[in-house]
Amino acid sequence: MEPTTFILFGATGDLAKRKIYPALYNLFVDNLLPQSFFLIGLGRREWSDETFQANVERSIREFSRREAEDPALLKPFLRLFRYCVLDAGRQEDYRKLLQMIEQREQELRLAPNRLFYLSVGPEFFETIAANIQESGLGSADGWKRLVIEKPFGHDLQSARDLNRKLNKAFAEHEIFRIDHYLGKPIVQKLEVLHQTDPILRELWTGRRIANVQITAGETVGVEERAGYYDHAGAVRDMFQNHMLQLLMMLAVHFPNDSADEMSRVKKRKVMEALRPLRKQDVVESVIRGQYTAGTIQGTPVTGYTSEPGIAQQSMNDTFIAAKLRIDDSFWDGVPFYIRTGKRMREKSTRIVIEFKDALMPSFAAKSGSKAPNLLVFEIGPKEGISLRFHKKDAPHTEEFEPVHVDLTANRGDVQEAYENLICDALRGDPRFFAHWDEVELSWVWVQPILEAFEDNLVPLRLYEAGSYGPAESDVLLAEDGYHWWFDTKTEQESNTKEGEPYAYHTNY
Ligand code: BG6
Repeated sequence: MEPTTFILFGATGDLAKRKIYPALYNLFVDNLLPQSFFLIGLGRREWSDETFQANVERSIREFSRREAEDPALLKPFLRLFRYCVLDAGRQEDYRKLLQMIEQREQELRLAPNRLFYLSVGPEFFETIAANIQESGLGSADGWKRLVIEKPFGHDLQSARDLNRKLNKAFAEHEIFRIDHYLGKPIVQKLEVLHQTDPILRELWTGRRIANVQITAGETVGVEERAGYYDHAGAVRDMFQNHMLQLLMMLAVHFPNDSADEMSRVKKRKVMEALRPLRKQDVVESVIRGQYTAGTIQGTPVTGYTSEPGIAQQSMNDTFIAAKLRIDDSFWDGVPFYIRTGKRMREKSTRIVIEFKDALMPSFAAKSGSKAPNLLVFEIGPKEGISLRFHKKDAPHTEEFEPVHVDLTANRGDVQEAYENLICDALRGDPRFFAHWDEVELSWVWVQPILEAFEDNLVPLRLYEAGSYGPAESDVLLAEDGYHWWFDTKTEQESNTKEGEPYAYHTNY
């Protein structure tokens, strides 16, 4: 890797503390930082270098996946960190910063390659980018990159405005838009799995697949983010970005030569083929939900509108489920069901591919089950890839038992999404970042949903905290003869509902 100066806006913030410093530490331990590297943390607080380093150390001790007990590693790592006070709107602060960086680059004889990381609220994105340009910070001889966190816009128009403004200071190839779901190890493995395993490649084709289900359930509620979340909702917070990126990664037909540019073109094609929704039709394929009081893992929790900072009459969505279609020859006739919500039964992000032609009809009639094969990607917090086959051992019963073959290659201590992404940004590899085309097309697709929610064309369905979302989201699949896989029900719920849907949980 080339020598790099890492300029971190928002160095005193929560994301830096929980994700960025621990990720950098683990990259350092794995020898994955450039040989010549230093980081300047920026924030409004009047910190000294020592205070900054002490805070970085604390965050590593608290959040790193690896213990930070070895002073021979920790000390040289902390020496890479310097601090500079900066008010994002004050131009002279940028000039001061430029001097500091130039001096350090000279001292260390570093090529002026600068990575600007915006770990700040979206209200600062444009100002910071403009000031980087005006101050000359972005005009050195080396390369420059902008790593930017979400949210990238609030709707289609604001995303376009933001992009236009960023483009005045950074070209598209210099912008690395973080979608941390793209950094998750299982998501990064999808392409390789598809390309290297002939059996899976054979199965992973639209004509063999009955449907695809993508779920990201969370047990947390709105937490301390009422101000942001009540205006974002699940549709902007999770759906427009993480969920649609998962869809693209799953649905893309990676070319054999999967050069960066080619992968991007292919991802864009998926978005272009996504059947558009008209505002008046959103109600038919999108479920909008909000949690009420309930119990999460034995603990009673309040409903959304009783959360601190949320208005009692808030109509914000904390859950969204949608049925999507990709109109290309590969995915023709295969529905994609996507759902995500807060305060759901379990924390789990998972993709399930349900295959067609389950048991041959004669067996199905006897066993009373369709028992399809499934390919399951557990993306987090549990990670794994498995394929479900059937076995029928007992000769005199008609029962089939699911057998799960674990396809996960490596186990144990896996790297975090932020490690993968920061490492890629340092290398200049854009593959697992969201290209503007993808972001724009996602907003184009989501815009009618935003408008339909805004105009209350889609009823707000309430769901109890600790459930799997509103019952209407089950109906979305039931209409097509399917059900969400792996929704574990309580005994009471199982007794009141009949049928196959929950039959396989204990085995999975
Ligand atoms: C963030 C959202 O992007 O992703 C949060 O803003 C959400 O609301 C989080 O909790 C979920 O990420 P993960 O990695 O825990 O699934």
